[in-house]
Amino acid sequence: MTSKPAIHVVGLTKSYADHQVLKGVDLTVPAGSVYALLGSNGAGKTTAVRILATLLKADGGTAAVDGHDVATEPDAVRRSISLTGQFAAVDEVLTGRENLVLVAELRRVPDPGALADELLARFDLTEAAGRRAATYSGGMRRRLDIAMSLVGDASVLFLDEPTTGLDPQSRIEVWDTVRQLAGRGTTVLLTTQYLDEAEQLADRIAVLHEGRIIADGTLAELKQLLPPAEVEYVVKQPSLEDVFLAIVGKTSSDSPNPTLATKDA
Ligand SMILES: Nc1ncnc2c1ncn2[C@@H]1O[C@H](COP(=O)(O)OP(=O)(O)OP(=O)(O)O)[C@@H](O)[C@H]1O
Ligand SMILES: [Mg+2]
Repeated sequence: MTSKPAIHVVGLTKSYADHQVLKGVDLTVPAGSVYALLGSNGAGKTTAVRILATLLKADGGTAAVDGHDVATEPDAVRRSISLTGQFAAVDEVLTGRENLVLVAELRRVPDPGALADELLARFDLTEAAGRRAATYSGGMRRRLDIAMSLVGDASVLFLDEPTTGLDPQSRIEVWDTVRQLAGRGTTVLLTTQYLDEAEQLADRIAVLHEGRIIADGTLAELKQLLPPAEVEYVVKQPSLEDVFLAIVGKTSSDSPNPTLATKDA
C-alpha cells in the first residue's frame, strides 16, 4: 500500500443539458479506507461514481483513481477498479453460477469455476446457483451482483447503494464483506441512503449537497459539527442522521426542536 490517495478529485463539474449536478466536487479517499458518500436523491452520487468509474465524462476538474487520471488513462483506471452499480448488472438469462463464471473468464481468473463456487458459498447462493437469475429475489440478485464485483481483486471498489432493498440479514452480510475487503487493503467508496450504514462501515464520510461536498470527515469529526442535543433531562449525542439533516438544511417533521432533528431514544 502507498500513502497516495486511492481517489483524488478536484473541482469536478458535470451538467446534464442546463442542469448542473456537480458544481466543483473535491474529494480525497485514503488508500485502504472505506469512504461513504451521502446525499439526498438526485444529489449526484451516481453521477460522481460513474465519472470515477470512467463510464461518464466530467465537464471540468480532475479525478484520479489509483494514481491514474480518469479522463486521460481510462484503461489503467478500469484495471484498478470494480463497480457495483445502483441497478444490477446481473444477466437474468444465465444462472447465478454462470454469471460469476462469465465475469471470472472476462477477468482472466485462473480457475473461474472454483472462484464462482467460493463466492456463491460466501453470499449464501449455493442452493440457487443453478437457477436462472431471473427467478432470484431482489436481495439474492443484489448479493450476486456484489459477488460479481469481487471477482478479480480490484484495488478500488465502488458500491453504489449496495444494500438498498436488502433484508437486515443480507445487509449485515454485505457489511461483513466490505469490512473483510477493507481489512485486505481494498479501498471502498460506497454511496448509501442508510445513515446507519455509513456509521457502521465508513472510516470517513462525505455529504454531497447542491453540487458540492459540504462536509467530510470521520464520524467523530462530523458529530462535532453539532452540540449534543438535550432531550428532556438526558444529554444526547447527535447521531449521524441529526448531523446530516442539519447540514443539508432539513428537519424531520416530528422533531420538537426546529433546528435539530432528533431520533427517539
Ligand atoms: N442521463 C441523465 N440525463 C439527464 N439528467 C440526469 C441523467 N442522469 C442523472 N440526471 C440527473 O442528475 C441528477 C443527479 O442524479 P444522480 O443519479 O447522480 O443522483 P443520485 O445522488 O445518485 O440520486 P439517488 O439517490 O436517487 O440514486 C438528478 O437530478 C438526475 O435527474
Ligand atoms: Mg444514485
